[in-house]
Amino acid sequence: MPSPDIALCYGTRPQVIKASVLREELGRSSSVLAVDTGQHYDYALNALLYEQLGVRPPDLFLEVGSGSHGEQTAGILTRVEQVLREQRPRAAVVIGDTNSTLGCALAAAKLRIPVVHVEAGLRATDALMAEEINRRAVDAVAALLCTPSAAATRRVRAERPDARVVETGDVSYDVLQRQTERLPGAAAIVPEILSGEYIYATLHRAELTDRPEVLLGVLGALDSLDRRVVVAVHPRTRAVLEARGLNGALTGSVTLIPAVGYLESLALAREAAAVVTDSGGLQREAYWLGTPCITIRSETEWGETIECGANRLVAPLVAQKLLATAITEQCDQWRSEQRWPRTAYGSGHAAELVTQAVRELI
Ligand code: UD1
Repeated sequence: MPSPDIALCYGTRPQVIKASVLREELGRSSSVLAVDTGQHYDYALNALLYEQLGVRPPDLFLEVGSGSHGEQTAGILTRVEQVLREQRPRAAVVIGDTNSTLGCALAAAKLRIPVVHVEAGLRATDALMAEEINRRAVDAVAALLCTPSAAATRRVRAERPDARVVETGDVSYDVLQRQTERLPGAAAIVPEILSGEYIYATLHRAELTDRPEVLLGVLGALDSLDRRVVVAVHPRTRAVLEARGLNGALTGSVTLIPAVGYLESLALAREAAAVVTDSGGLQREAYWLGTPCITIRSETEWGETIECGANRLVAPLVAQKLLATAITEQCDQWRSEQRWPRTAYGSGHAAELVTQAVRELI
């Protein structure tokens, strides 16, 4: 078997989504080996996305699964290294800031296979947050840095004057644009909701799930709102709620539903009065769909959404006090005004631009 031109390595829910469009575009002019580490293995977080986005299963599924950060990253590193040794691609493309991104990038860089980092240049001030460690380390070893925004470009140009930097825009926007025609109605997903009247919420980050009392404070704040709140529960959040026996404790406005597919999540975000989330992906999706967002964090890597007013931060510790007002203000502000321009993260052709840059690299 000849070596593939490119190994496209990924492993979590948001990466399966972004990889769908990258695989298609890269595959037009190059041979692509799709490697799914298996960091995410639940049906709704993995296989369902392949089905919904109409992509072939990966060429290799490495079944790394869950574990501590050390175990998970080490598992990815060792298994991907073996694949890369055998296959010898001319470049390895990695996406975002997860443990799969880090493990795959390190495996490739140590074998002197040029690393392409898609979604390069994002930064948070908390340098020890898992995703921040991952993205800084990957940006440090990448040969080609594909950035989603002008600010990210400036940052990596300053940090890595030796590297190739190409501002491609965000591949998530490509996927969203291709799928918006196919979205179901929100009421087909949760029958009791009315378009424009409910809040769509997701909470899954370690900053919340590692501090169950803070997570419960945020859920309590959502539960006491005066409109229906649909919370799609990530397995990690579900585990915390189950461990505390709290699934039945939310008797107010919150309706808990299991993690949904990509199309359902976009549909729920599109028809919501507002989105409340700690997910980076959903912050941008709300921005592109024109739905006001409240982010339950003290900072965001997607500062452009804040600058235009589409998004607003509420720190988890003060959510109980401030969330209701923040939601009301966000909804009131955008009810009467024209929505924000949606140009901060490219034009929906990021995968083409990544492909062009990769071709030039190899
Ligand atoms: C990971 C990423 C995060 C990204 C998120 C999207 C890292 C460090 N974090 O977080 O940046 O926003 O994916 O979802 O890589 N679990 C299941 N089924 C699964 C996957 C996970 O039940 O299919 C449970 C396991 O108990 C696991 C926990 O969720 O221990 C956390 O999973 P993990 O892969 O560590 O990270 P995510 O929280 O999903």
